[in-house]
Amino acid sequence: MRKSIVAGNWKMNMSHVEALNLYKSLSALEESFPSNVEVLVAPPYVYLNELNNIGKGSRVKVIAQNCASNESGAYTGEVSASMLRSIGINSAIVGHSERRHVFGESIREVTEKVLMLLKQNMQVVFCVGEQLSERKGGSHFNVISDQLQSVLSLEPSLFEKIVVAYEPVWAIGTGETASPEQAQEMHSFIRSKLNEVYGKQSNQTRILYGGSVKPNNASEIFGKQDVDGGLVGGASLDASVFAEIIKAAG
Ligand code: 13P
Repeated sequence: MRKSIVAGNWKMNMSHVEALNLYKSLSALEESFPSNVEVLVAPPYVYLNELNNIGKGSRVKVIAQNCASNESGAYTGEVSASMLRSIGINSAIVGHSERRHVFGESIREVTEKVLMLLKQNMQVVFCVGEQLSERKGGSHFNVISDQLQSVLSLEPSLFEKIVVAYEPVWAIGTGETASPEQAQEMHSFIRSKLNEVYGKQSNQTRILYGGSVKPNNASEIFGKQDVDGGLVGGASLDASVFAEIIKAAG
């Protein structure tokens, strides 16, 4: 049995006070979270240390939205995996579609980030997703297959630290979700690709769905066989709405 994960990606939202309030409001609801769901939130870098300290002992774990592809040095504005680790952050999102498409991160750069996090023994929430034109053109499976290469040549002991998130770009922030069937189809494809390399170990890998997950669609999507929870953007910015989604994963 795979333990579900529901992760909130706050992206570039929230003032300091708003971030504190959101984190505290969410933690206050943790009694209502199903015991078989892991809950993660990814606030902007500037709030990570404080929220992680406040959250010691909380079920709401704090993770990063990104990390640098280099180890250290003259990379103005970047934050390394080892810095995150040094403040007690154990997990980060890598390869989010906004990083790939808005900031132009290549597959190679994403792979380097994965390796940086693994070197620090951190968990990687590794995102893949096709654009609308790619789905319409029928190349979506190839696109996902290419993106997956970043995690297909790891030692099995390192691969254990990978959580995959399938986020079709056309469903992010658009209010349009993949249908539960479309999600299951791609999740099952992803698991089959992982299985080709890692065999039975791939049955343990959590594959999250992301893209306009809301309380009214979460349980249907999370109910699919190969969907092990969600990566949630907009709906994670309200504690009670996000808590509803967490409950749907139980
Ligand atoms: P939305 O839930 O706002 O569509 O965002 C999804 C996402 O990009 C999470 O990483």
